[in-house]
Amino acid sequence: MKSGVPSPSAFSDLASRVVATLEQYRQDSQKGNEKVLRNTAAGPLAHMLDLEKWIRRGGLDHTNLEDFLTPYLDASQHVHNPAFIGHQVAVPHRGAIMGDLIHGVTNNAMAVYEMGPSATVVERVIINWMLEKAGWFSSDQLSDFSAHPGNGAGVLTHGGSLANLTAVLAARAAAFPHAWQDGTPDNLAIIAPAATHYSIARAAAIAGMGQNAIYPAPVNALDQLRAGQLGNLYRRACDDGKTVFMVSLNACATATGLYDPIDEVADFCAAHNLWLHVDGAHGASALLSDKHRHHLNGVSRADSLTWDAHKMLRTSALCAAILFKDPAALGHAFSQEGSYIFYEENHPDLDVGRTTIECTKAALGAKLFMVLAIGPWAGL
Ligand SMILES: Cc1ncc(COP(=O)(O)O)c(C=O)c1O
Repeated sequence: MKSGVPSPSAFSDLASRVVATLEQYRQDSQKGNEKVLRNTAAGPLAHMLDLEKWIRRGGLDHTNLEDFLTPYLDASQHVHNPAFIGHQVAVPHRGAIMGDLIHGVTNNAMAVYEMGPSATVVERVIINWMLEKAGWFSSDQLSDFSAHPGNGAGVLTHGGSLANLTAVLAARAAAFPHAWQDGTPDNLAIIAPAATHYSIARAAAIAGMGQNAIYPAPVNALDQLRAGQLGNLYRRACDDGKTVFMVSLNACATATGLYDPIDEVADFCAAHNLWLHVDGAHGASALLSDKHRHHLNGVSRADSLTWDAHKMLRTSALCAAILFKDPAALGHAFSQEGSYIFYEENHPDLDVGRTTIECTKAALGAKLFMVLAIGPWAGL
């Protein structure tokens, strides 16, 4: 390995090369000059990238960067190519890319406030903006972090799967306040359509219910939930000795892009005192559209909402949110007792680590903030 003190311009030299190469890659991709994907096999690809050599010998700098970066980009999936339609990944907005860069340099992890004051404040304002779209924020200022009546709570997570897990934990805490300390009762059930993303079944398994806790909801020919038939399923689950505590809906379903009827299911949940979760990982961004918002009618009656900005809001992966109507629900997800301390004091807790599965956390809010601040519809 080369050793010694890096030159004073090592960072900017490398950064300039990286930016120039990426810009060429992006332009070529946009023109459709490169295939979206070449499908290179893993073994030959690792060889082509000379990974072994670089790791063992080091010495990569701005003069030889292309030796690595060019084949790396060639073998990548070209999301900027107009023919790219794969895997629900956004073509990243330049703001989100800069957010990644800013975080990469500042590296302010956010477990406690002092580890990332700016990152924390940006995340909290972004969460309030998202809560506002869901109908769960009533302060005049997005920077109101107080326990204002009508304001919900939320946190950004590394992905919708973690957001869904957080929702399951919060719903469990609402129904079984001692589950955090004493464990999960063995007869719990969640009603969800079969088209539900697998992360909900995974969350049930992680939370100790087993994935068989999922009772498949009745659906129509397009796999959308039929609210009118929920009563029969609910009775069957009760006859099986189950305690149903949660209904999870798709807004929208991963495979079809179709939305379940939130308003109708909210009636059912209210009548049976059930937690209503809306998995809007893919489709909650419709809340920003005058034309498409109606798909989420009734969302403000739900208890929790998952919303991925890295799907339809053009951030790079990852930037997801789990939002709650009841501000106490977020704290309850991670410990009944801790959340009492948090919410009964009349000052907000800005230590993000207390209300998320993660401890060290990236400044995810910066990406979405930069998209909104530049203008979401501006071209790259
Ligand atoms: C409806 C739905 N929920 C949850 C997820 C999981 O989100 P993530 O990939 O951000 O973990 C997805 C992703 O495909 C999804 O489409």
